[in-house]
Amino acid sequence: MLQSKIAGIGYYVPKNVYTNNDLTRFMDTSDEWIQERTGIKERRYADRIGETTTTMGVEAAKIAIERAHITNEEVDFIIFATLSPDYYFPGCAVLLQREMGMKEVGALDIRNQCSGFIYALSIADQFVKTGMYKNVLVVGSEKHSFALDFSTRGRAVSVIFGDGAGAVVVQPTAEDGKGILSTHLHSDGADAEKLAMYYPGASSGIWLDKIPDWPDQELGGLLMTKEMLEDGTAFPNMDGQAVFKKAVVKFPEVIHEALAKNNLKTSDISLLIPHQANLRISQFIQKTLGLREDQVFNNIQKYGNTTAASIPIALCEAWEEGKIKEGDLVCLAAFGAGFTWGSALIRW
Ligand code: ACO
Repeated sequence: MLQSKIAGIGYYVPKNVYTNNDLTRFMDTSDEWIQERTGIKERRYADRIGETTTTMGVEAAKIAIERAHITNEEVDFIIFATLSPDYYFPGCAVLLQREMGMKEVGALDIRNQCSGFIYALSIADQFVKTGMYKNVLVVGSEKHSFALDFSTRGRAVSVIFGDGAGAVVVQPTAEDGKGILSTHLHSDGADAEKLAMYYPGASSGIWLDKIPDWPDQELGGLLMTKEMLEDGTAFPNMDGQAVFKKAVVKFPEVIHEALAKNNLKTSDISLLIPHQANLRISQFIQKTLGLREDQVFNNIQKYGNTTAASIPIALCEAWEEGKIKEGDLVCLAAFGAGFTWGSALIRW
């Protein structure tokens, strides 16, 4: 069986910076509250018109492809992870394929939210390992800003999220013991509604009895009604404390699983790049695993939580800053809506 490696990496964040103080123009919040609970100082929002999840993904992909020393035509499979696609369907992978003038290759969208990039990387790894594809483009991109509730009602969710994109090219490697060592994926749908955006959706009420306090009215099909905007059900909904409690258990668990699979221990980790959910969650993981501060990379302070894009953006920034060197053991880990979680261990 072949080994796969990350051969090129890139990221793109929009130019529009919104500080915590900027958000106080729209909602009752404060820099102090946001920093204390999440560590976030500022985030980027895409241009309202013209900049989309796909166009940001394209910008990140161009850099990853160039750094992998291949051309767009050599990409033989596309995987695009996002929870904020340009269209309800088709997915962003085909839009990127069109935009980048790629061949008629397979194009797959992944809907695993904060774990989306790890799921996408794992799929790329399997395809490359089996010899099916040689250059798999993996993209994580989000334009959260179009669907957040920027009123005081939505502040617990909206202050956390930002826009951006990251991408990698996964290729086979002949170097023994190098590249992606293993990936580990999990889910538990029991708490699916604890972090969710229900519409547009085809649930037609069949799941709604599981959601406490759901407004007592007939909701059907793919409708997004004026009432949903008014009562807030049109926006993402999160039980922050439930997410926090589960995340601080599942992150360490899935990191230990990856280490055990490869007969390694926490002290072997050169750099842990956790999904940038919340700085407090990252700090909790660091403490639980007994890692030094310099063994964990965080950039949520600048970009907020960019969901499927957070790991590739952080991985690329860490690499550009010289924090990842040849031979380093890099651990990626994510937890998010679903709930889903996963990890990947890479010998750089
Ligand atoms: N600004 C000011 N006050 C706020 C804000 C805000 N942005 N948001 C909520 N509040 C208020 C609430 O209204 C509440 O006020 P009250 O006491 O008068 O009722 C008070 O702050 C406390 O609200 P809680 O929701 O209990 O706040 P909590 O301490 O749980 O912090 C947070 C919320 C930051 C979301 C926290 O639960 C958390 O970190 N959860 C983890 C979830 C997470 O990080 N999700 C990221 C996305 S999911 C992922 O990527 C895995």
